[in-house]
Amino acid sequence: MTDLTQLQLQAEAELGAAQDDAALETWRIKYLGRKGLVPAAVAKIAVLPPQERAAYGQAVNQLKQTVQNAFIDRQQALHDASLAAELAAEGIDVTLPGRRPQVGRMHPISRTLRDIYASFGRMGFQIYTARDVETDEYNFQLLNFPKGHPAREMQDTFHTTVEDVLLRTHTSPGQIRAMRDYHPEPIRVILPGKCHRYEQVTARSEMMFYQVEGLAVGRAITFADLKGTLQAFADEMFGQGRKLRFRCSHFPFTEPSAEVDIDCIICGGGGCRVCKYTGWLEILGCGMVHPTVLRNGGYDPDLYTGYAFGMGPERITMLRHAIDDIRYFYSNDIRFLEQFA
Ligand code: DAH
Repeated sequence: MTDLTQLQLQAEAELGAAQDDAALETWRIKYLGRKGLVPAAVAKIAVLPPQERAAYGQAVNQLKQTVQNAFIDRQQALHDASLAAELAAEGIDVTLPGRRPQVGRMHPISRTLRDIYASFGRMGFQIYTARDVETDEYNFQLLNFPKGHPAREMQDTFHTTVEDVLLRTHTSPGQIRAMRDYHPEPIRVILPGKCHRYEQVTARSEMMFYQVEGLAVGRAITFADLKGTLQAFADEMFGQGRKLRFRCSHFPFTEPSAEVDIDCIICGGGGCRVCKYTGWLEILGCGMVHPTVLRNGGYDPDLYTGYAFGMGPERITMLRHAIDDIRYFYSNDIRFLEQFA
C-alpha cells in the first residue's frame, strides 16, 4: 500500500468518525489546513526525482480532490442530519391547521357613525368638524343658556385650568361655529364628535360619548323639512317604513323643540324589554333653530330659518344590536368588540 493510499484511508476513516462541527473542523485543520497532511503530501513533489514527479503529482492531486470532496459530502451529511434531528425534536406537524392571524374590526360606534355620515351625505349634508375643547360662551351662552340657567345643570362637564374653557358637553356649539363660517350662505351640515359630561358612569351614561348634530339654515326651511329629513334617515338607518313620533320637548337653542321616537325595531311596537314595553324608542332631540341662536350665528331671523337635531351614536348602536350597557363600548373587551364582524 502506498503512502498516499494509506493517507486517504486514514483521512476517510477519521472523517467518518467526525460527528459534529467541532470534530469536522479539527479534521479539516489536520488534513486540509495550511500545514495539514494533504498539502504536505503535495509539497513532496518538489523533493522527488524528476522522473517520479508526474506519476506522484497525478496521484497526489487525485487524493487531494477525493479528500476535499469527501469533506464537503460529510459536512452536508452532518448538516442534513442535524436539521432532521432539529425538526424531529420540534415536532412540526405540517398537517396541523395553521394559526389564524387576528384580524382587526371596526369599532361598532365607528360603523354607526359611518352609516350616519353616508345617510346624510346622500341627502346633501356635509360633515363639519368643530372643536372638542370649547368656551363657556359657545357651549352655553350663545346657545341661549346664560350663566345660572337651570338647563346647565344637566350638562356639568370637565373644566380646564383656563377659566371658562371646558370640554364640550354636546356638539351644539358647532352650530354657532358653522353659522359664523358659512354666513350668509345656506347651511346643510352634520357635526359629529366627542362630548364629555361629568357624571356618574352607569349602564346608560358614559363620561365620554359621541353625538352627531345636524343643522340646516336657509330662507324657507320649515318643520316639514326637518320631519322629511328625519323620516328618510330613520328609514335608511332602521329599515323602511319606520314610524316616527315627535313629542314636545324643550331645549334652550330650539323653538319649538321635540324629541323623536321610532317604533321599536325589536318588537315592531308591540312592547318588549328594549322599548320598556312602550313600543317606542327615543333616537334624538330636534327643533327649529331659536331666533336668538340664528342671530348669534350671524343670520337675520326675519330672513332665515333653520332646523337642528342631535343624536347619540352609542344609543343608536345599542338599539340596533339590543346592547343593554353603554360601558361595553369603551372598556376594550375583545370578547365584546369581536362580535361586530
Ligand atoms: N344638544 C342636545 C343635548 O346634548 C341635543 C340636541 C337637542 C341637539 C336638540 C339639537 C337639538 O341640535 O335641536 O342634549
